[in-house]
Amino acid sequence: MNGTEVARTIREDVRPGVAAFAAAHGRSPGLHIVLVGDDPASHIYVRNKERAGTEAGLIVRVHRLPAEATVDQVLAQVQALNADPACDGILVQAPLPAGIGKHGTERVFDAIDPRKDVDGLHPHNVGLLVQGRAALKPCTPSGVIELLDRLGHPIAGKHAVVIGRSEIVGKPMALLLLQRDATVTICHSKTPDLKDTCRRADILVAAIGRPGFVTTDFVKPGAVVIDVGINRVDSRDAVVGFFGADHPRVADFDKKGSAVVGDVHPAVAQVASAMTPVPGGVGPLTIAMLLKNTLTAATARG
Ligand code: GUN
Repeated sequence: MNGTEVARTIREDVRPGVAAFAAAHGRSPGLHIVLVGDDPASHIYVRNKERAGTEAGLIVRVHRLPAEATVDQVLAQVQALNADPACDGILVQAPLPAGIGKHGTERVFDAIDPRKDVDGLHPHNVGLLVQGRAALKPCTPSGVIELLDRLGHPIAGKHAVVIGRSEIVGKPMALLLLQRDATVTICHSKTPDLKDTCRRADILVAAIGRPGFVTTDFVKPGAVVIDVGINRVDSRDAVVGFFGADHPRVADFDKKGSAVVGDVHPAVAQVASAMTPVPGGVGPLTIAMLLKNTLTAATARG
């Protein structure tokens, strides 16, 4: 399943809406990203979001704070964006630095104006999601639904198994699949019969953050497999183990010194009827849905 291609069509669908908003309001929708600290992966994600947003016609601003920033400083940044009429969407890039802590992270995300919450992670929007009436839904899981729809994979009546129960992917993914009339099982690190449960899935979503965790013995032949993992691997042996010694991905590793792999072992492609690659699967969809959410938020605010 080519996520890059589907993401391109979503972005093309967003562009006329952005142009219409700009014509009606004399300004383009504004996406504001708060980036705290210097996590290298976060910097790459934010750069990609900035580029895609600008290409879609949005005004994208990145607000950088140092790794030592206090919770109050991050809160002050969020509050300034809540009050800024030119700001339609606020995204605080996760994870926040360790010093902010779990409670501090919750305070920051809770401070975002729910109408500008383009991540769909504010408790207000999560509540609406539970009730099946959210306008702003978390980008990665809503991107997965778009992918299944646009590639013609039915959801209703299917058994969907989600591995992972994070607030950002696992939980909202399960809710969105349920909303579409799938029978949904959520698995996690304490699930005793994980492999057997996964093997019953018609749609298997892996969102655990462990490279190549889902092997062929987790997958029912013909299942649709969605790989949400983005894992950086520094071991050449591991990359050879995934792809085989002669694979171009190994040559690529030798150039870069690392590789990005998913939660699903590449051999699963031989068992599944369809599968998302990493990279080029779910990642680009997440960004496309962020742009769509920004347009939705801007249009709703008027
Ligand atoms: N970090 C990794 N993915 C995401 C995302 O979709 N939103 C935010 N805010 N942080 C992330």
